[in-house]
Amino acid sequence: MNISVLTIDGPSGAGKGTVSRAVAKRLGWHYLDSGAIYRSLAVAVLAQQVELTNSAAVVAVAQAMRLEFACQEELQIKLNETDITAQLPSETTGNAASLIAAYPAVRAVLLQKQKDFKQAPGLVADGRDMGTVVFPDACYKVYLTASSKERAKRRYKQLIKKGISANLEQITQEIDARDKRDSERAIAPLVAAYDALIIDSSDLMIDQVIEAVLSLVR
Ligand code: C5P
Repeated sequence: MNISVLTIDGPSGAGKGTVSRAVAKRLGWHYLDSGAIYRSLAVAVLAQQVELTNSAAVVAVAQAMRLEFACQEELQIKLNETDITAQLPSETTGNAASLIAAYPAVRAVLLQKQKDFKQAPGLVADGRDMGTVVFPDACYKVYLTASSKERAKRRYKQLIKKGISANLEQITQEIDARDKRDSERAIAPLVAAYDALIIDSSDLMIDQVIEAVLSLVR
């Protein structure tokens, strides 16, 4: 059966999560937050006090972890039956995720978990390599970006709203470092698929971005 996939890739804080969730809801499609999978692995690795630099040990954690996703109003994630949703958004988790996401063997283990989200009637997949590696045959591809200053501001507001303390200057530096690492890694780097529609959301309202993405699908 032909299941439609819409991929939304881009750097941290470009608004992928908000846009992807809204578009998935409007279309009645499933939603894959692939960053949450890398973040969940980071939580598991940190909890087990495995060195982030020990790639073989990180791969072993990835192979053993059992993830369950429940999508009500908010995405809820259980790791080996424990709810870890609250631990996912922090910058500590994001930075650890970005470090371990650079290991090819880690990406190989997590690939099938992501592909399994492709189910009828359709899927909106959000990440860095959705249109290039995980779903290269997707019918619709978007690369959503924004200036790094704007993205840092958005991430800052998001964290504060969730009750997580944050420092704008530090977030700007961390976002720049994470983008650099994600873009320069040898495997599945952050790059727009050649056939993706590129949207710069720096000066757009979120509703305008959602409409632009929906009109691509319609
Ligand atoms: O999107 P999010 O900030 O939750 O992703 C956390 C980290 O996970 C990213 O900085 C990136 O290194 C990694 N990631 C990835 N490939 C994806 C999604 C996320 O490498 N498809």
